[in-house]
Amino acid sequence: MEIKKRFSKHYEKGFMPWAHEEPDFNLIEVVENLPVKPCKALEPGCGTGTDSIWLAQSGFDVTACDVVEIPLNIAREKAEKTEASVQFLQLDFLNDDIKNAPFDFVFDRGYFHSYDTPGKRKNLAGKVASVLSDNGLWLSLVGSCDSPPRDSGPPMRSAKNIVDAVEKYFEIQFLRAGFFGNKEEKPAKIWVCLMKKRALLPC
Ligand SMILES: C[S@@+](CC[C@H](N)C(=O)[O-])C[C@H]1O[C@@H](n2cnc3c(N)ncnc32)[C@H](O)[C@@H]1O
Repeated sequence: MEIKKRFSKHYEKGFMPWAHEEPDFNLIEVVENLPVKPCKALEPGCGTGTDSIWLAQSGFDVTACDVVEIPLNIAREKAEKTEASVQFLQLDFLNDDIKNAPFDFVFDRGYFHSYDTPGKRKNLAGKVASVLSDNGLWLSLVGSCDSPPRDSGPPMRSAKNIVDAVEKYFEIQFLRAGFFGNKEEKPAKIWVCLMKKRALLPC
């Protein structure tokens, strides 16, 4: 099923197990420890906006987009309550123009991993590179396949799936195993991947 239809159905049913009320600690750790200084940031596939709101509260100039309107309405309400200034846009990140580009920092949590073919993941990596400024950074949180097989939960991608998709466009700064930041007792395993937009083609 086409990705927009799939997510629209989930949101219409109120099924959004990925939604989280606190910002993901993986984002906070990278932003605070690297550090990533406040800059123009984009979150594609932002869902209900928690991480974008945290970025805005931390001084970033944030644009966030989702292809489905339902989570964006939730995100806008949350942002209003916290007085965080985020530009929430409904658009298809892969196919639509991103007007506020270029950005210095892109963050996605569970958007890249939603694509189930190598070709689509590569297209997405190319699109992220095209909206980043020179030396721009992309932090991606990606469901990991290093768990026993299961019927539900985030998509399970391998480290190779990530490298194959991004290496043409990005120098990988680090790729490490971790877990999602949420309130679950046993959060799903993920890859935490920080990438820098390439100036030169890979060897
Ligand atoms: C697994 S959810 C993660 C949402 C959010 N990042 C979070 O962690 O709560 C993936 C999100 O990507 C959005 N999405 C899927 N395809 C998209 C596209 N082409 N453009 C923008 N957003 C898209 C979905 O609607 C969904 O909200």
